[in-house]
Amino acid sequence: MDFELKTLTRTRVSGEKCDALLVLIPQDLSLEDDPLSALAALALKSGDFEAKPGKLLSAYRTPGIAATRVFLVGAGDGSPKNVRTAVNAGLAALKNGNTQRAVLCLSALNKPQADAVRAAVVACGDALYTYSTTKSKPGPTKLQRIVLAVNDAASAKAGFDKGTALVKGIEFAKEWANRPANHATPTLLAGAAKGLGKLRNIKVEVLGPKEVADLAMGAFMAVAQGTAEPLRFIVLRYEGAAKSVAPVVLVGKGITFDSGGISIKPAAEMDEMKFDMCGATSVLGTFRALAELQPALNVVGLIPASENMTGDSAVKPGDVVTSMSGQTIEVLNTDAEGRLVLCDALTYAERFKPKAVIDIATLTGACVIALGGVRSALFSTDEPLAQALTQAGESSLDLCWRMPLDEEYAEGLKSNFADVANIAGRAAGVVTAAKFLQRFATRFPWAHLDIAGTAWKGGTAKGATGRPVPLLLDYLLSQVPVAVAGKVPARAKPVKRRAPVAKTGV
Ligand code: BES
Ligand code: MN
Ligand code: ZN
Repeated sequence: MDFELKTLTRTRVSGEKCDALLVLIPQDLSLEDDPLSALAALALKSGDFEAKPGKLLSAYRTPGIAATRVFLVGAGDGSPKNVRTAVNAGLAALKNGNTQRAVLCLSALNKPQADAVRAAVVACGDALYTYSTTKSKPGPTKLQRIVLAVNDAASAKAGFDKGTALVKGIEFAKEWANRPANHATPTLLAGAAKGLGKLRNIKVEVLGPKEVADLAMGAFMAVAQGTAEPLRFIVLRYEGAAKSVAPVVLVGKGITFDSGGISIKPAAEMDEMKFDMCGATSVLGTFRALAELQPALNVVGLIPASENMTGDSAVKPGDVVTSMSGQTIEVLNTDAEGRLVLCDALTYAERFKPKAVIDIATLTGACVIALGGVRSALFSTDEPLAQALTQAGESSLDLCWRMPLDEEYAEGLKSNFADVANIAGRAAGVVTAAKFLQRFATRFPWAHLDIAGTAWKGGTAKGATGRPVPLLLDYLLSQVPVAVAGKVPARAKPVKRRAPVAKTGV
């Protein structure tokens, strides 16, 4: 998929040859003297078209317009959210046609266009991704190239660059999450991470069973002991700032298949537990995007990767294991395995003296019940971190919602035989899982994102969403210590924080 950003006024867009032209029409459309404005004015006046987000009207070989097909698409107030809705509707209409080259015109939007361009590029990437790795023939060739037309490419460039980096990151995350468990074992996942290690400023190290045993990660090892697939502990480093700059650590749950273990899951939809590594793939996708943008930051990615299976050496309900932190854990339910692999990764994170640690996990079915597929659940022990993540969710249209961490919720985790049990009762399962993790995250500002509802879709559209790569990337970019993200040379000397400068335009 190729994207190009071009300065093209509406008059110029009218003359642009292409298979299909999508023109986003805002509700406050200002009419100009060009064929596109004339067409839009006519359609609006006749009542055949409205500028409501996602409304469509198509025309074919229209006088004065060089494109073969033209689609007017309503974009409401032109906000990034409405731009996303509009682009989704427009591309759905194009999908089955023989369009190779399309122009997406944002020149009629009256708002600053950087955020709209970012939203448009991400929506295009989302709509045009197809999974074909384990099909015998590649999927139908979709659109190859999209030109984004704006009034001023220079002012939209930052949004465009963010958008194209995100598309790469999201595609990487989707691709590895979608692969079936026999095509995405812990070893193969580590191979994918190593591939990222070839990109600028990224280093990858992979630990196997022996190294993990030497680290005494007893909780992680307990999950892996029931499967013939050897575990992997993946450590990624993005080094875009001076060594002295404390990193943000991202920890991703990498259960490549979750059968539940001895506390086995019911058969219905168990296939979807191949997606139980979406935390891990979101970390990989975020690194893919970082490699594109090269922000002046340090980021560490930690991925405990394993299957959760039912072998005769599998951990049993009631077994007590010793985590890397020294805390003992009674494994009352082997299906609560995510928190077991994460707790050791959180302890490992301490060695980086991190500025913040964020774990990302498809952790609980209870999260799906609580928030569905709209928002990820956010937990945090640190106010500024919680605010920055919430803000990043909003700016990237990848929403999350803060949940409570009252001490009372930890009551049910008490055990008669260990320091803590790995499950509490059925009530507030999304919170009690977070309370378990919190015990291992006392030495740094910490946040936990439960993405069980948002990381993939079931049903006929079954597939990974790539969430929360957009949220994580926006959060990380918000941590770049200067006014304009992306403009800082990599490994720049630490810059003194300047008073915020009023910016004009974007
Ligand atoms: N990977 C699952 C969580 C999950 C289930 C995500 C369904 C999305 C859809 C996790 O490992 C799990 O099995 N959690 C248990 C915890 C319970 C045993 C306390 C759950 O949610 O049922
Ligand atoms: Mn489980
Ligand atoms: Zn799981």
